[in-house]
Amino acid sequence: MRLLHATAEAVPFAKTGGLADVLGALPAAQAAAGHDVLVVHPWYAALRADPPPLWIGDVSVPFDGGSVSVGVGTRDVTDRAGDTRRFAFVGHEAFRRPALYGYPDDAWRFALFARAVPEVAARLGFAPDVVHVHDWHAALLPALLRHGDHVPSGSAGRPTVLTVHNAQYQGHADAADVVRWARLPGELAGPLALHGRGNLLHAGLVTADRVTTVSPGYARELGEGGVGYGLDATFAALGPRLSGILNGLDDVAFDPATDPALAHAFAADDLAGKRRCKEALEAELGLEAGRPLLGLVSRFADQKGIDLLIAAVPDLIDQGWNLAVLGAGDPGLEQAARSAFARHPGRVAGRVGYDDALARRIYAGADALALPSRFEPCGLAQLIAMRYATLPVARATGGLADTIDDDRTGFLFTDATPAALADALRRAREAYDDEARWAVRRSAAARERFGWDRAVAAYDALYGAARAERTRADGGRP
Ligand code: ADP
Ligand code: GLC
Repeated sequence: MRLLHATAEAVPFAKTGGLADVLGALPAAQAAAGHDVLVVHPWYAALRADPPPLWIGDVSVPFDGGSVSVGVGTRDVTDRAGDTRRFAFVGHEAFRRPALYGYPDDAWRFALFARAVPEVAARLGFAPDVVHVHDWHAALLPALLRHGDHVPSGSAGRPTVLTVHNAQYQGHADAADVVRWARLPGELAGPLALHGRGNLLHAGLVTADRVTTVSPGYARELGEGGVGYGLDATFAALGPRLSGILNGLDDVAFDPATDPALAHAFAADDLAGKRRCKEALEAELGLEAGRPLLGLVSRFADQKGIDLLIAAVPDLIDQGWNLAVLGAGDPGLEQAARSAFARHPGRVAGRVGYDDALARRIYAGADALALPSRFEPCGLAQLIAMRYATLPVARATGGLADTIDDDRTGFLFTDATPAALADALRRAREAYDDEARWAVRRSAAARERFGWDRAVAAYDALYGAARAERTRADGGRP
């Protein structure tokens, strides 16, 4: 199948979170399975690409009452496993800013991105069998491909799948602006909006042929309500059109035996190098040696429950843990982390910022990883931790509950409170003190496999169903 993915982030180009890891790995796995895959992505100022893409010219994108010219760049990417997929970049000054997101005109910027995707595909002569869009940034595409004017014939009317990686981020704008920007029929302003307000994720949910999210647990929670951030009724109305397909982990990109960020290599059946990684991390961060080491690698956002961990710091210190922190985001949480470093020298240390190599050294050097998320669509951090023989101590929610086994590979707790987290840490501490028991758990976690093959097969089945349904709806036209 010819598969087009539209996304705001993908490794190896731009990453703020797990969305980028998934859009680095899933298209590669699909290419390995024999699909012809194109990933369309904005070209940001901060984008890293060596060699740079080849800019093949401009296309005119119908937009905002007229047309906007965007540049089209392209590059093939072959990963360490040898799988190749093509990337296409949308070049426009709206994306040439220091950060990926966080601007007042984000909805306008990503409406332009979505509207540019079919033009870019046409410029590359790529006529997709399925268009798979990710999160709110690309969620206007299902409506556009079905109802937009002047959509190139290679993409118009193609079946669409929307994957929700995080329902909290939705893309808000004035309802009339959204349809005007995207050049959709004015009468769609109401149906695409949520309570009269333009909401790009809602627009995608009500128009995509199929909606998925990144774990069965989060799919169930979204269907039941309470985690939809205003979209509970929209998710509930999807019924069987919503399903959960668990993310995999790119086990070549995250492999402690070959990870160049680590000073010492190790593997599930030989963890000697892990001890040396821990010593190196203690020295790097100025932590007292020889204590159990808890890690935190996270975006600092309300979702992640960082405040619960900060509140539990006195308890975890009492229990004997050291804490190694890496994260950035919410300024209040950043300040709270810095205060904890100052208050507990030698026991709590780390860095406020984004640092891929330090993240890997924490996954490798820590004994356990804290994941006190309020909600978690899938979570890749716990998968990476387990691969690096580090036991997750996590809240039993969404993908965390789906991937961590409290009896074998980690520690789960239920209540989103510092006390419940401290209690789970106490259980982990007791297990750590029993060396033989800890060793069994650690190697069980490191041997756990979350490959992409299962997800590739599940998406294949879903694409097939969406295509068949679309063919029927179109009166038998292919
Ligand atoms: P989310 O996408 O919600 O942030 P995930 O667990 O799915 O959560 O993915 C987070 C990804 O981002 C992981 O690869 C994690 O290692 C990485 N990451 C998060 N914060 C940082 C940071 N401060 N520095 C480096 N990598 C980070
Ligand atoms: C989102 C979610 C995270 C998930 C990631 C990749 O960022 O917050 O749980 O792992 O997307 O799907």
